[in-house]
Amino acid sequence: MEVRVDLDEAAKAILTANDRGGYTVPNGRVYPFQWNWDSAFVAIGFASFDPDRAWREVERLFEAQWEDGFLPHIVFWQHDEGYFPGPNVWGSGRTPPTSGITQPPVAATAVRYLWERSPTPAFLARLDAMFPKLLAWHRWFARTRDPHQLGIVVAIHPWETGRDNSPEWDEPGAPIDVSQVGDYTRRDTGHLDRKMRPTKLEYDRYLALVQFGRALGWDQARIARESPFRVADIGMSMILLRANRDLLWLAELLGHQDEADELRATIAQSEAGIDFLWDADKHCWCSRDMITGRSSGFVTSASFLSFYAGLSDPAKDAAMLAHLERIAGKVRYLVPSLDPQDAGFQMVRYWRGPVWAVVNWMISTGLAEAGHDSWAARIRQDTLDLIATTGFVEAYSPIDGGASGGDDFSWTAAIALAWS
Ligand code: GLC
Repeated sequence: MEVRVDLDEAAKAILTANDRGGYTVPNGRVYPFQWNWDSAFVAIGFASFDPDRAWREVERLFEAQWEDGFLPHIVFWQHDEGYFPGPNVWGSGRTPPTSGITQPPVAATAVRYLWERSPTPAFLARLDAMFPKLLAWHRWFARTRDPHQLGIVVAIHPWETGRDNSPEWDEPGAPIDVSQVGDYTRRDTGHLDRKMRPTKLEYDRYLALVQFGRALGWDQARIARESPFRVADIGMSMILLRANRDLLWLAELLGHQDEADELRATIAQSEAGIDFLWDADKHCWCSRDMITGRSSGFVTSASFLSFYAGLSDPAKDAAMLAHLERIAGKVRYLVPSLDPQDAGFQMVRYWRGPVWAVVNWMISTGLAEAGHDSWAARIRQDTLDLIATTGFVEAYSPIDGGASGGDDFSWTAAIALAWS
């Protein structure tokens, strides 16, 4: 009990320390700006002790929304030399300066969460103001990132997926021309151990894609058609499907009939189209390269988000639970970001093994909703054990619980509070 109380107080102290006035930095040194999906989780954390501040986090993020509905993955609210690539590299031409790519759409789910925790008249007014902004972003995804109208999300940069250097992006990233990238100085490896971070080749590809988008003036429709990297991400696709269900719930609450009908149609399209991302050989939900048509074949933590997306198919669900059971036999802590039986598994390198608390929260939430209570409880407990043992770090080794990435991490603190 006492440990629990201490954990909550420590988590609140991290969110408070990382608060920069209406937005929260993921970590003061490594990520000194506002990140899109981090803020959605941070809002969920703030909701447990400061609902007004929780709403502010999301509202602040949407202050940087573009007029076409696009919501950037980073908002550079203030100058900081500690991060590369900064606003001048992105060259979005916006005020405030932003990146030119997006991130997994968790915000609508967070907003529904905030509303359900504190359904007061004052927050109803804020919900009313937030709804059209969320809808505009979701419409942007449907219009710009779903070329075959399958109800999925095609990412044009690995960073959009939030799972930056997952091996799912290796093969689709291989043809990217890095010969013109030029010299640059990374900042991440100045803060963190190289063995945890992406390689030079991966970073060259990231920058080549940034330069590509910038050269097209961040014309999102053109980038979506012409980018050398176009991958249907299983994570973003599942997260958007879930977010559309939460947005529908909010549309019904607010009495927006036309929008509710539109969202029902969008959800039905995903339910019919998302099978495109089922890998029948691997018996698993996997990302797929839209240029070659090939499935990644990787079992990642994002594969388990089908429950969170509200999908239900007895055979597929059983296959996913069998994967979970097999993986649980290989690691101490669920859910590793990559299948530990994969040859590329590395226990502390980003998105090639470590456990992320935010992904666990989504997986566990989905499993609980689908009635798989003991798996949901196991994942929640593993996450809390990791935090209690190792602290509020960015990610954790699934083998020994060791730290991966930065410390005093906002979204890890947020999940501790959501689960307290
Ligand atoms: C890393 C993660 C990304 C996150 C960001 C800030 O880039 O891969 O998902 O949003 O850090 O925490």
